[in-house]
Amino acid sequence: MQQTVNLTVNGKTVALTIDPRTLLVQVIREQLALTGTHVGCDTAQCGACTVHMNGRAVKACSILAVQAEGAQITTIEGLSTGALDPMQEAFRDCHALQCGFCTPGMVMSAVQLISDNPNPTEAEIREGLDGNICRCTGYQNIVRAIKQAAEGAASARGTSSQPEAART
Ligand code: FES
Ligand code: FES
Repeated sequence: MQQTVNLTVNGKTVALTIDPRTLLVQVIREQLALTGTHVGCDTAQCGACTVHMNGRAVKACSILAVQAEGAQITTIEGLSTGALDPMQEAFRDCHALQCGFCTPGMVMSAVQLISDNPNPTEAEIREGLDGNICRCTGYQNIVRAIKQAAEGAASARGTSSQPEAART
């Protein structure tokens, strides 16, 4: 039995006829050819498949595509148009990646993290990345990148970051 699912992916409306057992990540990678979203574990542990669904970071390997019916999906390819997103720039500037396999998922989670908490402490960043695993970097530069992106966003808003010591 096949089923039709309607999604808006990176601003484009798509209607796909799929096996209802198809995972959202399979639709994204195999049917829409958006291969920036990675599969590291397929068991909701590594975060490599993180995308935004209706504005929230989700693990696309843990959701059936039919459960996303009508949803707005943003993948790493849709995070920015033209220039890199400031979070991507911060990852580049801080050397926050090595092999890059975890990076799209890390970036999608990090964007959500600073949207929820615009001035995170280092501890809050580490806690926020709990669902994303990196086998290469040791996380130091990923944390630095997220801090830098948060500070950049704060100065663009004209609000300076409060010193971390004052908040802990
Ligand atoms: Fe989805 Fe690892 S592939 S969490
Ligand atoms: Fe290699 Fe994170 S950079 S897994």
